[in-house]
Amino acid sequence: LKTSGRSESDNDTGWKETTRVGFIGAGKVAAAFGRYLHHRKVTVGGYLDHSFDKAKAAAKAAGTTPCDHMTQLAARCDIILITTQDDRIASACEALCRQAKLTDRHRIGHMSGAHPSGLLAAARDQGATIFSLHPLQAFADPQKAFETLPETFFALEGQGEGLPLVAQLMDALGNRCFSITPNNKVLYHISACVISNYLVTLMDAGLSILEHSGIDPHQGFQAMRPLIEGTLSNIANLGASKALTGPIARGDNGTIADHLNALDTAALTDLKTFYTFMGRWTLALAGGNTLTSEEKATVIERLLAD
Ligand SMILES: NC(=O)c1ccc[n+]([C@@H]2O[C@H](COP(=O)([O-])OP(=O)(O)OC[C@H]3O[C@@H](n4cnc5c(N)ncnc54)[C@H](OP(=O)(O)O)[C@@H]3O)[C@@H](O)[C@H]2O)c1
Repeated sequence: LKTSGRSESDNDTGWKETTRVGFIGAGKVAAAFGRYLHHRKVTVGGYLDHSFDKAKAAAKAAGTTPCDHMTQLAARCDIILITTQDDRIASACEALCRQAKLTDRHRIGHMSGAHPSGLLAAARDQGATIFSLHPLQAFADPQKAFETLPETFFALEGQGEGLPLVAQLMDALGNRCFSITPNNKVLYHISACVISNYLVTLMDAGLSILEHSGIDPHQGFQAMRPLIEGTLSNIANLGASKALTGPIARGDNGTIADHLNALDTAALTDLKTFYTFMGRWTLALAGGNTLTSEEKATVIERLLAD
């Protein structure tokens, strides 16, 4: 993972203080990122949204004003981020191109993880540089998203002579940014979804089993939290396979059989399917590493079979 990022001594980014960044779509990402740009002394030129009130609120936090029209936004800004829902990016870009005259001064980007910059072909046809700049961050809570933006990595790809200015924006912010090829964006995004979204699903599955044991899920989560954080820290320090603990890693067949029986007794059919699927993946991870006995691995494999 080759990243760029400004060192404290490196101020020669070529970034101009007059460069302005604007947003079409004033939702969760645009509101937090615009506020962050303003906080880092990058000028935000304006916001446009279906809802003028939403654009106004985001603009206020980012030290700017809302726009009434695409023409106004294009006149005010050099970099325009189309931060609508993914399936509206291309049509918003086409509307921008119809209403405002873009030139090679403009860099038009979106912040979707799954899609390449090619969605913005209409802007490229008018001479603008196009790009996608994806923050590897979940923007569920606006304040938390703002606070975690300094540590957030961004994935960048694009086409056009103005692309270095976007990388310089990342340098000016001090964020680490890596390149990705357009063809690899979908797999990259699946990985981020599995790691982030399915982590939420995993927690929910674990907590619903906990609830069946008679423990309130909210209080239970507080009790599990040090375990979760300790596990994350082990993965960061040791890598996934060495971070593995528990009955599969130890080869405790009897405990696994007890787990499966308890899920049957509680009639948790879907959770048993979930447990066995995850168990088979875990077994592959443990095999030849923490689990060295082939005999035990074969018994576990049989227990976890469909
Ligand atoms: N949320 C995340 O955690 C996250 C993380 C990384 C990247 N991203 C990416 O960031 C982008 C924005 O996501 P988000 O979660 O911030 O979306 P969001 O909260 O749903 O905000 C999208 C906003 O754009 C507005 N909009 C849609 N079409 C428009 C148009 N043609 N003109 C003006 N405004 C328009 C929407 O208005 P209406 O509601 O009226 O349609 C809404 O206010 C997406 O590409 C997403 O993939 C999101």
